[in-house]
Amino acid sequence: MKPINVGLLGIGTVGSGTWTVLTRNAEEITRRAGHPIRITAVADRNTERARTIVGDAARVTADAFELVRDPDIDIIVELIGGYGIARELVLAAIENGKHVVTANKALLAVHGKEIFAAAQAKGVTVAFEAAVAGGIPIIKALREGLSANRIQWVAGIINGTTNFILTEMRDKGLSFADVLKEAQALGYAEADPTFDIEGIDAAHKITIMSAIAFGIPVQFDKAYIEGITKLDAVDIKYAERLGYRIKLLGIARRREQGVELRVHPTLIPTRRLIANVEGAMNAVLVQGDAVGATLYYGKGAGAEPTASAVIADLVDVARLHSAPVENRVPHLAFQADQLVDLPILPIEEVQSAYYLRMRVEDKTGVLADITRILADGKISIDAMLQREPGDGESQTDIILLTHTAIEGQVNKAIQSIENLKTIVGKVTRIRLEDLN
Ligand code: HSE
Repeated sequence: MKPINVGLLGIGTVGSGTWTVLTRNAEEITRRAGHPIRITAVADRNTERARTIVGDAARVTADAFELVRDPDIDIIVELIGGYGIARELVLAAIENGKHVVTANKALLAVHGKEIFAAAQAKGVTVAFEAAVAGGIPIIKALREGLSANRIQWVAGIINGTTNFILTEMRDKGLSFADVLKEAQALGYAEADPTFDIEGIDAAHKITIMSAIAFGIPVQFDKAYIEGITKLDAVDIKYAERLGYRIKLLGIARRREQGVELRVHPTLIPTRRLIANVEGAMNAVLVQGDAVGATLYYGKGAGAEPTASAVIADLVDVARLHSAPVENRVPHLAFQADQLVDLPILPIEEVQSAYYLRMRVEDKTGVLADITRILADGKISIDAMLQREPGDGESQTDIILLTHTAIEGQVNKAIQSIENLKTIVGKVTRIRLEDLN
């Protein structure tokens, strides 16, 4: 059994988790892979920390390019992150005929086309289970387990930081800003949490899943992205009273005219399992035409959960190391020459139901004016909630849930509603998905 030699780029949280799990479970992993898989070299800027983790069991260097050129290394594991040096290293590894395992969602979502084309040309594999939803084997499920299906949609809670924040906002009735501070103090949120709270991290992940689900190229630049920073705790409360939870969802849906690719806060019926995914956990719901709905749940981040995905990829690559290229599973589930250029629909063409909250003067005819505007826009109302005005109050909140409508039509209706003299301020609009 020829050992498979791995070069590890970056030995931070996930890198050290990978080292630990690969060492701890070496015997079982070898029985599965058919080859011992051993990390023979590690590149990290902090060589001292790297040495304390690996001791004398692997070569340590600060020069990652040394590893991607090393003829004795079969697989490069890239855990550096970002689009800069990581892109150069991955392309150099491919150029040198090495397989690559990466957890880098940003790199694949933005530069996937270039990277997969280079790997295809060179006959090597780029594996990325750890890039989406950490330890949940969702890439494997979409690419292999569900390959009989025409996949209709994928919807996921794929960012643990924002799910933790939304859970705390609901449980404690706190504002976004307060919970963010708490999450940072507890180490759940990064010092610069932009990628998480603005929905960018989730958009990277849903972009990758859309490619595998529908056989389209990765097109992060066309994704619609809205984070949770503007979410008001009052909407979480009203949603709860109407039987819904608000989650940051990544959604990829096939429509006749193209593909919806979007990330935004979304009302989901509380009775759905996915609505009950709490704290930093992740879950992905996939609807296939044959299988129906399937749900995948687990830890979306952390040292060993993410290492679990990295090592599963190492085992896959080790098994197929010497197999002819045509016998390997295609990177994006569909054969490389079979990808189709379905258009990604602009957000105005997306179809969704909506939660609309408006502050109104409590006067006769207000509701009639609002419902007339919605009817003119062919937007049907599904449910309504009106808060009782308090003593001496002349204004109140009206909350409407609509049936599915086209976003452009809803935006026009919102504009007309905001122009009514009896409406105070802006209308709050949050998308709602039944996920049925
Ligand atoms: N920052 C991500 C999250 C984990 O909060 O889920 C890595 O993708």
